[in-house]
Amino acid sequence: MFQPALLSAFESLETPFYYYDMSLLHKTLDLYTFCLKKYGYHAHYALKANANDRILDAMRTAGLGADCVSGNEVALALQSGFSPDKIVFAGVGKSDKEIKTALEGNIFSFNVESIPEMERINELAAGMGKVANISLRLNPDIDAHTHKYITTGLAQNKFGISPWMFGEVWEVLERSKHLALIGLHFHVGSQITNMSVFKTLCERVRVLQQWFLDKGAVLSVVNLGGGLGVDYQSPLEHPIVDFASYFDIIHKNLPLLPGQEIHLEPGRALVAQSGFLIGRVLYVKKGKGIKFAILDAGMNDLIRPSLYGAQHHILNLSSAGRMMRYDVVGPVCESSDRFAKSVLLPQVSRGDFIALCSTGAYGQVMSMRYNQRDLAESYYSDRLLP
Ligand code: LLP
Repeated sequence: MFQPALLSAFESLETPFYYYDMSLLHKTLDLYTFCLKKYGYHAHYALKANANDRILDAMRTAGLGADCVSGNEVALALQSGFSPDKIVFAGVGKSDKEIKTALEGNIFSFNVESIPEMERINELAAGMGKVANISLRLNPDIDAHTHKYITTGLAQNKFGISPWMFGEVWEVLERSKHLALIGLHFHVGSQITNMSVFKTLCERVRVLQQWFLDKGAVLSVVNLGGGLGVDYQSPLEHPIVDFASYFDIIHKNLPLLPGQEIHLEPGRALVAQSGFLIGRVLYVKKGKGIKFAILDAGMNDLIRPSLYGAQHHILNLSSAGRMMRYDVVGPVCESSDRFAKSVLLPQVSRGDFIALCSTGAYGQVMSMRYNQRDLAESYYSDRLLP
């Protein structure tokens, strides 16, 4: 993957930067869309994972819609050419301005998360003489067995509507002339690697949808959200997620009713493994019982290790020396600015290129300018290599 021609191309670039392997991205998308077609499912790419223009282009060209969680994401999706009838909009705190952006854009569906939100969308839609399509985001009370910060489907989480609220939701729906219920929405968490979670989700969907079907609702959309995890430990051995098993689990456990469609909102699984944060070693400093490899990339470029204790596989692209242990850290003035503790790497020297793998999702998009640091540039394999 990191052949000598690529490393020499890196030489002329200012570090740190994000590098995207477009051929891996396209292979991933090919496999994903193959599965979508096989089962006749629909997908909306979760823009929050990575909203770079080249990535959005690839998703749109592959035929995916857009899953948005802010008015600005909706506006960006529209601007980037996603068809409005493939745009969905979730989030527990949609402001009036954001709701209006989505109403003006005639998006496919609001994934609504509460009764007061339903009432507000209804009022704003009435004011604009429109009817808003909505899917109810239900909270199925399922443990996604992932990091607590990215678990969203438990009853104590702020997301979605719980079964005890269904009666009131139905009353509001009946009197809201500017809302059209088109389906149900779920999203139970992210970086889910235990596939049985998706089986449990499908089982819960079947139970929960029955309440609405009994009321006579027509649920043409069942949106299962995103959440499929990637292999952060061995990204080079497993560059593409086992989409086939994931789709098979859904297919087997969630039989469709006549006229019903399954929608998905993949983010991480499509883009994580194609992205790499590339930095250079500034200094190798002796510490107490360990050496620090101090990079020019820091937590402002990639916050996942500091925020979630996430571990990204690290490569020394410039050395084949003997393996030694390092704490790999950034230059930011925070002790949490550490990418790895006591990790084995081929001997590290000043100037070596270091790659932080699996950073295509929730990497660059979560970066910030803390310490007044510059934001990293993006480079794409098909433009860097002849
Ligand atoms: N749909 C909804 C409603 C979501 O909230 C999310 C992610 C997705 C889809 C896409 O999920 P994915 O397929 O990427 O798992 N910053 C965290 C991840 C936060 C995920 C938030 N929601 C991280 O770096 O791990």
